[in-house]
Amino acid sequence: MGHLSAVVQSGILYVSFLRARELYRRLACPGGVRTYPARRLACTEISIVMSTDHSQQKFETRCVHVGVDKDDTFNSCITPIYPTSTFRFEALGKTKGYDYTRSGNPTRRALEESLASLEGGIDCRTTCTGMSASTATMHLFKPGDHIIAGHDIYGGTFRLFSVPFTEFGLKFSFVNMQDVENVRRAITPQTKCIWIETPSNPLLNLVDIEAVVKVAQSKGILTIADNTFMSPYFQRPLELGVDVVVHSTTKYLNGHSDVVGGAVITKKKEHAERVGYIVNALGLANSPFDAWLVLRGVKTLGPRMEAHQRGAMAVAQMLKQHPLVEKVYYPGLPDHPHHELAKRQMKGFGGMLSFDVKGGGAKAEKVMTTTKLYAMAESLGGVESLIEHPETMSHASMTLEARRGAGITDKTLRVSVGIEHPDDLIADLKQALEA
Ligand SMILES: Cc1ncc(COP(=O)(O)O)c(C=O)c1O
Repeated sequence: MGHLSAVVQSGILYVSFLRARELYRRLACPGGVRTYPARRLACTEISIVMSTDHSQQKFETRCVHVGVDKDDTFNSCITPIYPTSTFRFEALGKTKGYDYTRSGNPTRRALEESLASLEGGIDCRTTCTGMSASTATMHLFKPGDHIIAGHDIYGGTFRLFSVPFTEFGLKFSFVNMQDVENVRRAITPQTKCIWIETPSNPLLNLVDIEAVVKVAQSKGILTIADNTFMSPYFQRPLELGVDVVVHSTTKYLNGHSDVVGGAVITKKKEHAERVGYIVNALGLANSPFDAWLVLRGVKTLGPRMEAHQRGAMAVAQMLKQHPLVEKVYYPGLPDHPHHELAKRQMKGFGGMLSFDVKGGGAKAEKVMTTTKLYAMAESLGGVESLIEHPETMSHASMTLEARRGAGITDKTLRVSVGIEHPDDLIADLKQALEA
């Protein structure tokens, strides 16, 4: 019986695949040269037009519907997964829009369509990790080009820039970007890019995106923003003038800690084409299964972000009052140094916070190992709460000097607040502090 049902299901899947592929044949245009009456979304190797115009829909509606209406075989409400490495040619030089999954895959393209819409770009390329998304953007530059980045960016990005891409010939300056004058001063005739990560990881410092964009545009410099911490629900850098947005989709966009992935969203044709070319040429793309998981996660992005924020605000307020806590880093607190900027450039304060405990590294370790609800783990943005020690975990790839320069010490703990009830989150962290 089980075997028969599996055979029937495989048959249904295969028919679904053929019919959906036929839909794609009508929607996808290899070469990107034909024009369609519907709005063209992408402009690179495989150009997708959206069968429905979503441009007038609100953000939450687009989370649920963009990249989803893909199956006219059985009218499935959910985008099918196309687990195929290759696609049959109809004749020499004639495909139905896809030839090989490294170069393009309908499930991945559906996710790319969704993320391009949510960030307000013309195109998106999704990749196998957040780091590979950043890697793709570095190929917009050539040896000798100079890039300015924050001194307190994610440790893995710091390592990517200061080792592999420095060896490759790019030059980097890591500056305190909280003051835009530091950015202006770091510019040289070779400066081609300013890399913005805001809020920063793990200390939640903000960079004034519009101010940095103004400086960059006055000198013809490209801006790239890592929008992982806020997600497009709370912050949309392209709307503030940034040229390219990257994400670790591992975090809030997927939201369930069951996949790693990345995305590059572009708003200019030249960048879209180059990133599309590089993702294919370097083999950086994500699998159809992983793309499907992220596409599923994105549907609940809005409600999840609201819940993350509600919990983070409650936990931050508790920590602020706690006698065993030295300092709390959360942009939603009125005394955060960038609270006003946060209100201006973001639509919320997010679910990430850090704090310094009284009693140094030993106490920090005790708190981490005594919590019951918060898993001691790296990463962030999942529905479950996590706690970690940037000094020895997420930011261990930075030098000690770089960590201290960025303000990270061994008494700092970072929390990714999940969507559990705030009362439980508060009670557990309190017992861990007081243990
Ligand atoms: C802000 C930020 N950007 C990029 C990355 C890298 O993403 P991934 O781990 O998916 O490669 C991370 C990972 O923690 C991150 O926090």
